[in-house]
Amino acid sequence: MSGISDTMSGMLAAEAVTRTYTTPAGDVHALRGVSHAFMPGRVTAVMGPSGSGKSTLLNLLAGFDRPSSGRVVFDGVSLGDLPERELAGLRLRRFGFVFQSSNLISVLPARKNVAFPMGLAGLSLRERTDRAQALLERFGVDHRADAVPNRLSGGERQRVALARALANDPDVVFADEPTGNLDRSSGREVVNALREVAADGRTVIVVTHDGAVADAADVTLRIVDGEIDDAADASETALHEPVAST
Ligand SMILES: Nc1ncnc2c1ncn2[C@@H]1O[C@H](COP(=O)(O)OP(=O)(O)OP(=O)(O)O)[C@@H](O)[C@H]1O
Ligand SMILES: [Mg+2]
Repeated sequence: MSGISDTMSGMLAAEAVTRTYTTPAGDVHALRGVSHAFMPGRVTAVMGPSGSGKSTLLNLLAGFDRPSSGRVVFDGVSLGDLPERELAGLRLRRFGFVFQSSNLISVLPARKNVAFPMGLAGLSLRERTDRAQALLERFGVDHRADAVPNRLSGGERQRVALARALANDPDVVFADEPTGNLDRSSGREVVNALREVAADGRTVIVVTHDGAVADAADVTLRIVDGEIDDAADASETALHEPVAST
């Protein structure tokens, strides 16, 4: 059976996804039937009020959680059909993550943070060193390679986190409020970096309250009360030219 998720490399799709949390106080219908295909080469911003289901959706798309009904399909494979072990391997090699607070390992310098997931994926020391250096250069933070995270500015930290997210050359990059702790200009740098990551042909999914991030996105998906708000559904805003690195 084929749906909106016919095989396209790097395409991630939610198909009629629901997620109901059972709590002592009763059921919480966090997602009530969300269908959307997240496309390679695009930055998709997921917006919506607090409690509308954005993080729930991100967790399902990333395979951290399983839908109550419906499916999440990546490259034509339903994540629900994969055993936990395979899902973990997929997350390590094909997905990358950036969080609001960067989640870098505090005792490791930037370069080792970036190399860390490469070690898990079995790359040699030589490959890890070269690749980490190239990624830090790409995001303009190679001069900070030996600094531990708390010696970095917020914007530098997020660019290191993005370099780490690309460690294993993922098809999909997820970011949950990556500019939440940043001032405007650092936020803009991170947004430009995300656009470049999409220009590589990757699928970029960003949960954000930041209007500047949404403005820079190719597609904006608005979630309200666990459903896609059709009024604003996937408004394919002007498709921007890829951002040149500066
Ligand atoms: N583990 C859980 N158990 C029970 N209810 C939960 C759980 N996680 C989230 N919820 C509820 O599901 C709904 C959606 O939560 P979610 O975290 O997805 O919202 P959000 O859009 O990410 O909000 P925010 O913008 O504040 O981060 C909320 O009503 C929340 O209280
Ligand atoms: Mg959230």
